[in-house]
Amino acid sequence: MTHRTLAVVSAGLSQPSSTRLLADQLAAATRDELVRRGSEVELRVVDLREYAHDVVNNMLTGFPPAALRGAIDAVTGADGIIAVTPIFSASYNGLFKSFFDVLDAGSLVDRPVLIGATGGTARHSLALEHAVRPMFSYLRAVVVPTAVFAAPEDWSDGTADGALRGRIRRAAGELADQVERRLPATGPADPFALTTDFLQMLGRGDDAPVTPPGRTGAPPAPGSARAGSPPD
Ligand SMILES: Cc1cc2nc3c(=O)[nH]c(=O)nc-3n(C[C@H](O)[C@H](O)[C@H](O)COP(=O)(O)O)c2cc1C
Repeated sequence: MTHRTLAVVSAGLSQPSSTRLLADQLAAATRDELVRRGSEVELRVVDLREYAHDVVNNMLTGFPPAALRGAIDAVTGADGIIAVTPIFSASYNGLFKSFFDVLDAGSLVDRPVLIGATGGTARHSLALEHAVRPMFSYLRAVVVPTAVFAAPEDWSDGTADGALRGRIRRAAGELADQVERRLPATGPADPFALTTDFLQMLGRGDDAPVTPPGRTGAPPAPGSARAGSPPD
């Protein structure tokens, strides 16, 4: 049985948080789908409000405090990521953006990601497409086609209505497809890992395969880069 890990990132600030509720439902649906297909699944929840101060300290000093280091490793070492933000001023909130800003360059290359958002109005659902998806595309993650937005009218008593449940199921299936296509992750990306052939580094080999960070032996992903290389 293949062991898979899913990192569940929620940037909700309220308690209780509708963003966390959506993240949990996306995680449960993806876990159920992977289990149905024969994997065992470990969920690692990263509730960003617990790391808000650490994220700012990381931005100021360049180093993550120990607790944040653990959260970063959980995300960069996962087979798949579920990333959910509340919409603030028609975009992701600052905490969500800041967390992904402090990750090492290249640490999400070829990583499957399911994106979701909650908002006060369904009119802002396309913030997922004009803000959240481009951010992950820039990080060269693989974002599944279905992005899940939940407005207040999509819930009744904390339960997703039929249409939202359908979107959650579809997105979970797409994330499970992407996770299954890859070898199991081997842990957090090492930005200093040697990911290219030594002879090539000496200028004596051509086109040695490049392995995405956090994996061993995986086929090279189109457009993937060496770990630690500066983003384009
Ligand atoms: C500062 C601020 C700005 C917001 N801006 C928007 C917005 O532009 N569009 C929107 O649909 N909702 C907006 N909202 C509402 C939140 O997105 C919504 O309440 C969200 O579901 C809260 O998530 P939580 O329950 O996890 O904290 C805003 C809320 C706050 C506090």
